[in-house]
Amino acid sequence: MEVVKNIVWHNATITKEDRHRKNGHKSAILWYTGLSGAGKSTLANKVEEKLFERGYNTYVLDGDNVRMGLNKGLGFTADDRKENIRRIGEVAKLFVDAGVLVSTAFVSPYREDREMVRSIMKEGEFVEIYVAASLEVCETRDTKGLYKKARAGEIKNFTGISDPYEAPEKAELSVDTGGQTLDESAEVVLSYLEEHGYIT
Ligand code: PPS
Repeated sequence: MEVVKNIVWHNATITKEDRHRKNGHKSAILWYTGLSGAGKSTLANKVEEKLFERGYNTYVLDGDNVRMGLNKGLGFTADDRKENIRRIGEVAKLFVDAGVLVSTAFVSPYREDREMVRSIMKEGEFVEIYVAASLEVCETRDTKGLYKKARAGEIKNFTGISDPYEAPEKAELSVDTGGQTLDESAEVVLSYLEEHGYIT
């Protein structure tokens, strides 16, 4: 890759803090991570719905959708997943700058990649939410039929089957979607956000 020179950071006139004042709330990334089928998108969308109804500025960046646009062409090797997560992290950071409570729903199986995103954010701006459904639960659900294909060897590097998933060690929150209703899981996230001053 070419090393680009002669570019200079430009400070915006309207700051993130100005936007927080106008919006009446802070911004942050709610980073959902977990196996395929764990319920990341479902939970992220349910929490967003509740936040949106209460007047918060929100957005969801979702795995499959982002891979159809911004990250089209990236596959599932460790390098491609790293680049996927790096770009999503940068985009999510822009949303935080724009004053939004942005949710990201990606498998993001590598601890190092998630920590890289955490490292580009300020303290409190990265809330890691482990969507902790077990492989057994996800495989039984098999909503997209991908586990069946992965077991049959039709999909290579499939997380949990032929590729690793590194569970978070210091996630802000762990949600057991296997043993709770969707509303109960959403409540766990909303309570955390209230207790830590993201929402009132
Ligand atoms: S990653 O690891 O964060 O870059 O993956 P992500 O962008 O979230 O994409 C995961 C979705 O792609 C489908 N899919 C796979 N997942 C894992 N491993 C392999 N090899 C794979 N191939 C396709 C799958 O539908 C994932 O969606 P979710 O919503 O997580 O089930």
